[in-house]
Amino acid sequence: MQKIVIKGGIPLNGTINASGAKNAVLPIIAASIVGSGHSLIKNVPHLDDVTTMNELLIQMGVQLNIVDTTNVEICADYIDNPRAPYETVKTMRASILALGPLLTKYGKAEVSLPGGCAIGARPVDIHLKGLEAMGAKIKVENGYIIAQAKRLKGCQFYMDKVTVTGTENLLIAATLADGETILENCATEPEVVDVTKYLINMGAKIEGIGTSILKIQGVDKLTGCEHNVIPDRIEVGTFLVAAAATGGKITINKANPEDLESVLIKLREAGAEISTTEDSISLNMHGKRPKPVNINTAPHPAFPTDMQAQLCTLNAIASGYSIVTENLFENRFMHINELVRMGAEITVAGNQAIIQGIKQLNGAPTTATDLRASASLVIAGLVAKGETEIFDIHYIDRGYEVIEEKLNQLGAKIQRVTIEPGH
Ligand code: EPZ
Repeated sequence: MQKIVIKGGIPLNGTINASGAKNAVLPIIAASIVGSGHSLIKNVPHLDDVTTMNELLIQMGVQLNIVDTTNVEICADYIDNPRAPYETVKTMRASILALGPLLTKYGKAEVSLPGGCAIGARPVDIHLKGLEAMGAKIKVENGYIIAQAKRLKGCQFYMDKVTVTGTENLLIAATLADGETILENCATEPEVVDVTKYLINMGAKIEGIGTSILKIQGVDKLTGCEHNVIPDRIEVGTFLVAAAATGGKITINKANPEDLESVLIKLREAGAEISTTEDSISLNMHGKRPKPVNINTAPHPAFPTDMQAQLCTLNAIASGYSIVTENLFENRFMHINELVRMGAEITVAGNQAIIQGIKQLNGAPTTATDLRASASLVIAGLVAKGETEIFDIHYIDRGYEVIEEKLNQLGAKIQRVTIEPGH
């Protein structure tokens, strides 16, 4: 067991590099299943979720090697176990992304139903409805999705909700289906665009990249290829919010400012001075206290739900009153209780957090509950008076590559401490 210990009150200062995007590399590794021959996926972040996805493919029979430190070589020509077991899926919901690729290339798949998670029920009904619309026979037995299809057939399918992994699952499935598929109400997140680019480079015929309507002409075969994963806009956004909250000045290289425009707008509204180049973002808060900003989460290009918890922390120390509205997930305010324990003045009413900014949070022992909530606690620890401990930090390692190393590079006083059992 490990905890993170942070000494607060130090403005972040310096330069770091962004890592590859977790929510792009997970669907891309899953999508490699549909390729014949080798793919080389580059700029892969070192995250627990990536390790889990790699292990999931290896136990299916995929040949997967980590070459250098951030590149993964994959060959999925011989899969003898098209199955995603419960013990894997329960630790990482994104395992559902194996369903579409396995079904369209091997005609069968057994994937454990991902249960809900801390932030909500997170059903996969749209994934299943879309695959059935393509002719798949799907039943759910003993907690497993059992799917079969001689060959998927192209169809027209409208997704009732904008779903990121739903769009990705159906898009990948359609690439080898027989005929044309039109997917409507697609997610347009940069990570979906990155998966689409990878598939096109493999030989997929896809029109409408980056829009809410994707038109796919199924082909008989796709070949592996090389692909550079885009930078992680949520990691970048998280560090920018940490710099703004501590009144600091940082530059993040290997970042794409276009992917997080809605976040930069809100940080400027909070009083940050932001400058960008093609592949970097600089933020200077000039030691000022942030101004309060109202937030409404929604699918891209609106404000991303994965940045909501971090903005709650910024608003918790802002010079006034703000409202944060979470429109995608029904239970994504679990960080609020922990922030209140650090002195924040926040009340939750339905899907809104009403925040009265205060001058200073106080360090306290806290517990992470989900990936982005844990990031908001790290930011709170960086600004709080005194010392903050964060327990259950395995959540952080799922989505942030050695977060304490990058923060120490920026002058923070943060360390990871191993807790002996029984303490
Ligand atoms: C992806 O999750 C991300 N994960 C999430 O990031 C992110 O928060 C979310 O998209 C929204 O942007 C990955 O990409 C691996 P959704 P996903 O399907 O695809 C409802 C993080 O912190 N829905 O877009 O699971 C669903 O309940 C994680 O990195 C259905 O009703 O989210 C939610 O209300 C957390 N039926 C809404 O759609 C379905 O079949 C959006 O969910 C599918 C989704």
